[in-house]
Amino acid sequence: MAMSSSATSPSPSQVSAAAPLLPPLGHEQVVFCHDQATGLRAIISIYSTALGPALGGTRFYPYESDEAALQDALRLSRSMAYKNALSGLDHGGGKAIIIGDPATDKNEAMLRAYGRFVQSLGGRYVTAADVGTSVSDMDVIAKETRFATGRSEVNGGAGDSSVLTAFGVFQGMCASAAHVWGNPSLAGKTVGIAGVGKVGSHLTALLLKDGARVVVADVNSSAVVALCEKHREINVVADVFELVRSDLDVFAPCALGGALDDATVQALTAKVVCGAANNQLVVEGAGGTAQALMNRGITYAPDFLVNAGGVIQVSDELHGFSFARAKHRTEGIFEATASVLRLSAEKGTSPAEAADHLAEERMATVGSNRIWLPTG
Ligand SMILES: NC(=O)c1ccc[n+]([C@@H]2O[C@H](COP(=O)([O-])OP(=O)(O)OC[C@H]3O[C@@H](n4cnc5c(N)ncnc54)[C@H](O)[C@@H]3O)[C@@H](O)[C@H]2O)c1
Repeated sequence: MAMSSSATSPSPSQVSAAAPLLPPLGHEQVVFCHDQATGLRAIISIYSTALGPALGGTRFYPYESDEAALQDALRLSRSMAYKNALSGLDHGGGKAIIIGDPATDKNEAMLRAYGRFVQSLGGRYVTAADVGTSVSDMDVIAKETRFATGRSEVNGGAGDSSVLTAFGVFQGMCASAAHVWGNPSLAGKTVGIAGVGKVGSHLTALLLKDGARVVVADVNSSAVVALCEKHREINVVADVFELVRSDLDVFAPCALGGALDDATVQALTAKVVCGAANNQLVVEGAGGTAQALMNRGITYAPDFLVNAGGVIQVSDELHGFSFARAKHRTEGIFEATASVLRLSAEKGTSPAEAADHLAEERMATVGSNRIWLPTG
């Protein structure tokens, strides 16, 4: 792993990691960025460019330590590589962290300084919005770099990605239904949605159109009220605790990460779990939450696969956004989910392991290490 750092000038000079600071996770490059004038402190982590420029969002978050920020950058950039590979994108995986509180520390000068660091990598890393950054922040960053996507529609971007994210989750759910019940339709099935924000509310509409019954829970009562005004036929329960214990065919976590802890897995009545939230499995890896779900006969559609509609959208924007093209590509989540569930059944491994296997295979066999530069 090459480590690069820069003081005030955004021209990263490569220096080798002198000490075994980190576990050898196989990352290609980690860049530490500091801009004295604006107080910017950031880490850009590139896990892989095997399939093309590393694509992944910028997280703006007040980490308790630099070490915690670094670990998150390493973990998240690796996840992005797997997600992009499995989605069939010509992108490697990367992620950036800006250390600070977005509510108090974020300003135009800092975002622009950050944009100059992204530009200095010459297209090896393409950034987008994540926790703590928004579409309008990408507009600001894009003033300094060609390598920012997920911008607003008025600035030539594709805007909110939740429509395609929900569409992709729906595709994954239909593929899971076909795998479990032999029919891709959700008609007559009861789907419990935890979190009816941007993605959960779009998903509700798709499910109702398909003839499913929808039960929802959200800590934000105004989100629930707004959804009920739009769709009077949905049912509402008090909280996620009650939702997972109610009579469900499918559970769709669409709120925060860590939705599938031990107690939830044991209490679930649903036969399928498929939702948008990132990092749903509390214990990752062999013998973890994925195994507990398998032991209970619950089919789990891996989160990083089914929620890829958003990254498909921001990737498409780099080519001049076409909603039709991005939607068509998002439809591919159906077949990708079906392949993962087939492989999982054949090998007796969890869907999460099968998804990792297919992503690794694509990175190893399709990878060309080329860097593609958007025009403009
Ligand atoms: N928006 C996208 O394009 C996209 C893409 C990939 C992944 N995701 C992931 O999908 C999830 C939903 O994204 P979103 O854009 O709809 O976010 P959002 O903030 O619009 O909606 C999340 C909803 O979850 C609710 N919530 C939070 N904690 C809860 C709890 N304990 N119980 C019940 N409800 C709770 C919130 O009140 C909110 O209404 C997130 O985890 C996000 O990281 C989103």
